[in-house]
Amino acid sequence: MAKPIIITGASSGIGYELAKVCAAQGHGLVLIARREDLLLSLKAELETARGVQVLTYRGDLTDADTRQQFFDWTQAQGIAPYALVNNAGFGDLTAFAEADWAKHNAMLQLNIVALTHLTRLYLPGMIARGQGRILNVASTAAFLPGPYMAVYYASKAYVLSFTDAIAAELEGTGVTATTLCPGPTESEFQERAAAKDAKLFAIDNMPTAAEVATYGYAAMEKGQRTAVHGTVNKLLSLGTRLLPRKTLADVTKGLQKPA
Ligand SMILES: NC(=O)c1ccc[n+]([C@@H]2O[C@H](COP(=O)([O-])OP(=O)(O)OC[C@H]3O[C@@H](n4cnc5c(N)ncnc54)[C@H](OP(=O)(O)O)[C@@H]3O)[C@@H](O)[C@H]2O)c1
Repeated sequence: MAKPIIITGASSGIGYELAKVCAAQGHGLVLIARREDLLLSLKAELETARGVQVLTYRGDLTDADTRQQFFDWTQAQGIAPYALVNNAGFGDLTAFAEADWAKHNAMLQLNIVALTHLTRLYLPGMIARGQGRILNVASTAAFLPGPYMAVYYASKAYVLSFTDAIAAELEGTGVTATTLCPGPTESEFQERAAAKDAKLFAIDNMPTAAEVATYGYAAMEKGQRTAVHGTVNKLLSLGTRLLPRKTLADVTKGLQKPA
């Protein structure tokens, strides 16, 4: 397989579009998500349109055994990934005290543990080969506290901190680590997070998942450390460094308070 890229959460949204962007650049793909029917139709589309090889794997990445089995399967297939894209993630708009613990535990497992575990599994091979890319999808949520999506925002702050740290460790190895921070983006995210009505997402001209994917792929290829999508989001992320954390929490609370 040509310069294979592993993409988690490739059945919809940003991951789906990242698969298209990577295939257009000639990369073979290994795609994982739970809805394998969607992965299989994407595989058929990309193999026909782009002539690249695409492998799919149905798996729930909140499960540690599944992650290990997926890694072992890629090893058995002889896949030496050029890049790992940890994209799968979700949020949930609710007061924390009323949160569904099972859902929030799954969020922590997916947004934090799966991303960390897969990075740990694939990184040594990349370092040994002297070449590789890690692209971890965080969010502009990484820069501030997020009342009513407290666990989600905190999980993305983890992704940013973790990725910055390993990027520094990886200097000189030929492997880079990039954090992609999209702002609100058209995808299934809002519906899954029960956040469609939140003021945060009531913006005109929300970027498409394709725009974010194109930007993220380019940042990964450049080995950029942090890639915040969009001029307004870049300015807002800079602004978060100047304002008190309480002010940031108050503003986000106003934007996300459920009706
Ligand atoms: N859209 C936004 O406004 C926005 C903004 C900032 C950051 N982000 C981040 O961007 C990333 C992609 O989200 P998106 O906007 O593209 O949302 P999306 O359309 O809901 O896509 C999420 C993807 O994650 C996969 N996934 C969810 N749970 C999974 C699990 N347990 N195991 C394996 N795969 C799982 C889903 O596939 P299956 O359901 O088939 O498993 C789907 O392919 C996420 O990390 C999200 O936090 C999104």
